Amino acid sequence: MLSDKIQGALNDQLNAELYSAYLYLSMAAYFHAVGLGGFAQWMRVQAQEELVHAMKFHDFIGERGGRVRLKAIEAPPTEWSSPLEAFETALKHEEMVSGRINDVMNLALSERDHATQIFLQWFVTEQVEEEASVGEVVQRLKLLGDARQGLFMLDRELGQRTFTPPSSGEGGAP
Ligand code: FEO
Repeated sequence: MLSDKIQGALNDQLNAELYSAYLYLSMAAYFHAVGLGGFAQWMRVQAQEELVHAMKFHDFIGERGGRVRLKAIEAPPTEWSSPLEAFETALKHEEMVSGRINDVMNLALSERDHATQIFLQWFVTEQVEEEASVGEVVQRLKLLGDARQGLFMLDRELGQRTFTPPSSGEGGAP
């Protein structure tokens, strides 16, 4: 059984993951509008992954006998001044999400909720990967500067990203 505090924190994180999906879908629309279809595809896949994260929280709350309570999802920004600004925003966002996951983990530790700690471990590892993959694109965009040729090459490369749905047993609690 989940304590009220943990249940509240997990519901808040469910909302944060849904907001992440919204943010990246909004970035996908921005990239599409400026003619960078590969960047748009990358962000679309990122949004799909966030929905998987959200479902993990949804399912875990249910499995622990808790109650999912959905809240309003904040509207994300819709415009960025450049691909670099969009990816820097994404990196800041992922760093914020990592901080939130750590906060929920600290709460689970203080409440001695071992099952929630084990559940959150997957997210601690995932956040390292998320920050690294977004950070790599930020670095590459910085190196490119105003080189349009390089930007289009990166666009082609990022467009190769595909979404892999979680295998059974991976979609819910890990
Ligand atoms: Fe669900 Fe990008 O963290």
